[in-house]
Amino acid sequence: MDQTKPVLEMIDVTIELGGKVILKDVNLKIFPGESIVIIGPSGHGKTVLLKTLAGVFAPTKGHVLVEGEDWQNLESQEKHDLAQKLGMLFQKDALFDSLTAAENIAFPLKEHTQKNPEEIESIVLKLLDYVNLTEAHDKFPHELSGGMQRRLGIARALALSPTIVFYDDPTAGQDPIRSDAMAERILELKKEFNSTMITVTSDMLRAYQLADRIIMVVNGEVFEVGTPETIESNKDPRVQQFINGQIQGPIRY
Ligand SMILES: Nc1ncnc2c1ncn2[C@@H]1O[C@H](COP(=O)(O)OP(=O)(O)O)[C@@H](O)[C@H]1O
Ligand SMILES: [Mg+2]
Repeated sequence: MDQTKPVLEMIDVTIELGGKVILKDVNLKIFPGESIVIIGPSGHGKTVLLKTLAGVFAPTKGHVLVEGEDWQNLESQEKHDLAQKLGMLFQKDALFDSLTAAENIAFPLKEHTQKNPEEIESIVLKLLDYVNLTEAHDKFPHELSGGMQRRLGIARALALSPTIVFYDDPTAGQDPIRSDAMAERILELKKEFNSTMITVTSDMLRAYQLADRIIMVVNGEVFEVGTPETIESNKDPRVQQFINGQIQGPIRY
């Protein structure tokens, strides 16, 4: 893969939702194999940014390119094909309640591939093992803890071996130890799948753990804050306020 050509790119992107500007004039390049972490205060547009990159929201202005192709210019079949290369775990990406864990993972494989039931089952078993849910094969989502549901969501997101993976707060609601372990697993899976990864998190420890590059969203503005190594020395008061968890500062709560 050409490492110098962005796998995802935003050019002068503005997003309006419900008559409100959520993101303004965003320019962003994400390169193959990178792990990008998006941080920022709650309600400032992290999920909207992630969904716009994933083609869920169309920009009001500007362009979003995936592997050099403008989402807007794609025919529905091309969009469908491209969507297969994407793995998405969104905050409210509900699992199917009436399907078992195994069936939840099998679902995208049945929908989008020609694989036979044996092939599908072997992928399902592998993914359940990846996320330590082997025993949950025949359990329904309501029989699983919150953390297990989250891991099942990750397994389902990975079912189609996506080259670009989007995670919205994958460790939300987990205690620090589980959260650390899950982030480690996510990194291993990234390596295994050789994918580009974009993760939203409000947990700075996870951001340091997961990121090659950290990006911040504040008041509709999207800007790069650096690597886990350089972020501490970033002088931007918004960055300092956020990473140090201070009430006082330019970000209003
Ligand atoms: N589908 C939508 N329609 C209208 N407004 C939305 C929609 N989705 C998000 N918003 C608004 O966009 C802003 C940013 O939301 P979001 O990206 O979810 O924030 P974050 O993920 O940073 O907490 C919020 O004001 C939210 O109300
Ligand atoms: Mg969000």
